[in-house]
Amino acid sequence: MKPDVLVNGKPMPHVLEGLEQRYTLHKLFDPADTGAVLREAAPRIRGIANAGHGRVDAALIDALPKLEIVSSFGVGTDNIDVAYARQRKVIVTNTPGVLNDDVANLAVMLLLAVTRKFVAYDRYVREGRWVREGAPPLTRGISGRQIGIVGLGRIGRDVARKLEPFNARIAYFSRNERPDAGYRYYPDPVALARDSDALIVIVPGGPTTEKMIDQRVLDALGPEGVLVNVARGSVVDEPALVAALEEGRLGGAGLDVFADEPNVPEALFKMENVVLQPHQGSATVETRRAMGNRVLENLAAHFEGRPLPSPLP
Ligand code: NAP
Ligand code: 8YV
Repeated sequence: MKPDVLVNGKPMPHVLEGLEQRYTLHKLFDPADTGAVLREAAPRIRGIANAGHGRVDAALIDALPKLEIVSSFGVGTDNIDVAYARQRKVIVTNTPGVLNDDVANLAVMLLLAVTRKFVAYDRYVREGRWVREGAPPLTRGISGRQIGIVGLGRIGRDVARKLEPFNARIAYFSRNERPDAGYRYYPDPVALARDSDALIVIVPGGPTTEKMIDQRVLDALGPEGVLVNVARGSVVDEPALVAALEEGRLGGAGLDVFADEPNVPEALFKMENVVLQPHQGSATVETRRAMGNRVLENLAAHFEGRPLPSPLP
């Protein structure tokens, strides 16, 4: 008998195909259908294949008395009530590691795009302003400058490593000091921001990091400073960020994530010193395929009684 699995959100086609081969599926592609999908199948569901940002809260866990595992797409698990799952002895797995490279690349791209006005100057050429107005104002380089990384985890370390050839000085803030990394540690983000020319934020979302990048951090970064956020929108006090940019208290921002995706504060649209991305850090064909494969592997390992590739600790 195939185990019953709830598909929470719309997965990538290769993931859906892999799930269809191994499990009896109950597709909850639209959260509005929860009642209809669960009414009949809930007592039999043993696993959740969680696509993208599908929410798995205490109510959903409670509705599934036989639930054993939530296999989630993505490394961030702020969309899942992990504490409650643990209490209910439900395993949660995610897809760490396979996305480090592409997310770190996007962080570096955002830093360079903002500091060198890459997007604004592309527009400058296309709009004929180069011809009419001549060369635009000079930009700032990152060589010899201090780049502060907020969260020196798997992705944060990759960002640091990728910035070394740019001759940037790396420093970081995280809960624990990582002496093996060989970078300067700051025990609080304000101090890191004060000494840094740019901050790259790559901590998990959730209550412990909510609005960690607040007005104090932004003011410490200052009118020449740049904020890059590839973590979660919740980590930054978004209204404070918009106000700091509007008032010239912050030099610029490169943002892949937002508080209320896909909605982005409209005030940012007209700012030349801001580069915006649609939460696409991991969104390459190769990485998304690897993430999808990991979702399948975690589920298969669980139901076949093998060690799980990437359970949450
Ligand atoms: P990770 O290896 O767990 O690293 C997280 C880092 O954040 C660690 O250095 C950790 O420090 C630090 N941290 C955690 N909670 C903290 C807190 N309350 N205060 C200070 N530092 C804290 O995670 P990862 O794989 O690098 O991924 C990080 C996050 O990136 C994900 O959770 C996700 O939200 C985001 N992400 C975004 C995209 C995108 O598309 N933009 C893609 C992938 C991931 P300690 O080690 O000291 O605890
Ligand atoms: C994905 C991410 O975009 O892994 C994460 O935490 O934010 C991204 O890789 C997301 O999980 C699903 O679309």
